[in-house]
Amino acid sequence: MHGSDTDGRVGASVCTIAIDDLPDGLIIADRFGRVLAVNRAAARLTGVQPERAVGKDMNEVFPFRDHDGREWWKALDPEGGLRTRTRVPEKPLHLPGGQELYVAARLVREPERCGDVVRVAITLRDGGARARLERSRADLVSTVAHELRSPLTSVKGFTATLLAKWTRFTDEQKRVMLETVNNDADRVTRLITELLDVSRIESGRLEVHRQVVDVPARARRIIAGRVAAGEPEDRFRLTVADDLPETWLDQDKVDQILANLVENAVRHGRGTVTIDIESVGWGVAVSVRDQGEGIEPELAPRVFRQFWRGNSRRRGGTGLGLFIVKGLVEAHGGTITVQRAPEGGAEFRFTVPTGTPDFA
Ligand SMILES: Nc1ncnc2c1ncn2[C@@H]1O[C@H](COP(=O)(O)OP(=O)(O)O)[C@@H](O)[C@H]1O
Ligand SMILES: [Mg+2]
Repeated sequence: MHGSDTDGRVGASVCTIAIDDLPDGLIIADRFGRVLAVNRAAARLTGVQPERAVGKDMNEVFPFRDHDGREWWKALDPEGGLRTRTRVPEKPLHLPGGQELYVAARLVREPERCGDVVRVAITLRDGGARARLERSRADLVSTVAHELRSPLTSVKGFTATLLAKWTRFTDEQKRVMLETVNNDADRVTRLITELLDVSRIESGRLEVHRQVVDVPARARRIIAGRVAAGEPEDRFRLTVADDLPETWLDQDKVDQILANLVENAVRHGRGTVTIDIESVGWGVAVSVRDQGEGIEPELAPRVFRQFWRGNSRRRGGTGLGLFIVKGLVEAHGGTITVQRAPEGGAEFRFTVPTGTPDFA
């Protein structure tokens, strides 16, 4: 049996443990700025140990300043301002040690609406992590800009030349230049389409419209397309298990997945491209393998990243294909892996669950 006294103490220690479990820093102060509690993450982020801070003045132990050098706590002024104010929006601040932190606060009032401020809860987040994320976004922007610029530079070069010296070229020369312009325009369009897919994947806006999809028939269609485009027919081999379950998938997305994997096998691989489709009971597994150089096992985790092209930069791809393929497979609740095929070469294998009709 626990007395109420013991329960109270257990409750308090669970509370301390719980605030120490938070991933973000938390400081609690009273309205006069006296520090009441500091969790472990706040101690780590600020470098101030809780026992050195509790009972002291906020401004003394955590002298946050904004980029203009203004003292944050003074500007916060918990006792002043509108009595309805509770949220203090997040701001980048720093401490004298140079740590940049994102700091937000909530004024706790009693009674809840329009009462006096009784406590201030302050959350801290690492500014470095956010700066790193912004940097990776800036890298993405510069990569995209670069990818768009190279085909456009070629388009501009050829059109300017043709316009300035139209009569000096033979019809055949003009045709070659226009073909290049046409290909570069296709490349820009493709890059933009892929970037839109990437953005849908990253923001979780990718919608899967399920219908019954005959996966082997889709694979046959993709192969037929490559053959029509001039690939020899005997470059492809398709094996299909006879116990495949009925699958409810998004047909366009399945086509996109297969087309990307087959294109990679043709373009980055060599020899015969084999597509195996088999049942895994709860779904189907498709593997696409070739007999080329394959992908070094230590590079395998990288192939699914955006813009990763290994040493095949000159082969004209965007490096977005496998990132999109992975996103499309995962949108179906599936997984994809890469390994070395038995005959060397790369083997991509994805598994998707059978799925159910959209509104079942
Ligand atoms: N079948 C394969 N064999 C060898 N390398 C491959 C294969 N498939 C993909 N890769 C490597 O992975 C990289 C990323 O592929 P992907 O995302 O489709 O981009 P892209 O095809 O536009 O270059 C390729 O540039 C290539 O280096
Ligand atoms: Mg590709």
